[in-house]
Amino acid sequence: MNLDVLFSRAEIEGTKLAGRTVAVIDVLRATSTLIEALAHGARAVIPVDTVERAVRTAAEIGKGDVLLSGERGSLPIEGFHFGNSPAEFTEERVSGKTLVMTTTNGTAALLAAASAKRCVIAAFLNADAVASALGDGDDATLICAGKEGRFALEDAVCAGLIARRMSAAKRVRGTDSARAAMRLASRLGHPPLRFLRRTTAGVQLRNLGLSRDVDFCGLLDRYGHVPEMRDRRVTL
Ligand code: MLT
Repeated sequence: MNLDVLFSRAEIEGTKLAGRTVAVIDVLRATSTLIEALAHGARAVIPVDTVERAVRTAAEIGKGDVLLSGERGSLPIEGFHFGNSPAEFTEERVSGKTLVMTTTNGTAALLAAASAKRCVIAAFLNADAVASALGDGDDATLICAGKEGRFALEDAVCAGLIARRMSAAKRVRGTDSARAAMRLASRLGHPPLRFLRRTTAGVQLRNLGLSRDVDFCGLLDRYGHVPEMRDRRVTL
């Protein structure tokens, strides 16, 4: 199988995703938070691009079972039920609920990947499960959300780790980007992933007093589930 890696969502434009399986990665923090919310029983997560659309979408679905989550500048959005810290999404608060989520990079990357044949959600939290899920079929593309259209080291290392595990299990023809990501992962992709704290996003979160989030998003293979997006709705 052919395996490609896109280092930021800016690369999605002009890339043919139709017929391919893609995995979207935003380690700090959107896909980590999404995986955590579904692990705690959220019914579904609906990624949207703007705060206004989030409020409108929640109103359309009906207030009872819908909660708003997201961030701007890594800080919670006024009037929303949740920010974007994985620890907020406890079973007590999200079980059976539908979340409408808007973040700076992660949800935008998910929406940009909607043309793919199959779109799964990845982070360090479920890296091995994603490698197994992708290893059995179509050509695949690992999409790094990046940070404001730029390269984000944590996403590239996560993509490289998944690619290394896929190529350990199966014959994979990797593009130059995939091979570069695998090289990065061979250097940095080992628990406890200390490099995370020194990435641009890691430093930004720590400066906001969110070190706990950085450490949590660095927990390798905590979950065996692989959420999937269909019709712009993410479920287990
Ligand atoms: C994003 O999608 O940009 C990130 O998840 C931002 C964050 O969590 O601070």
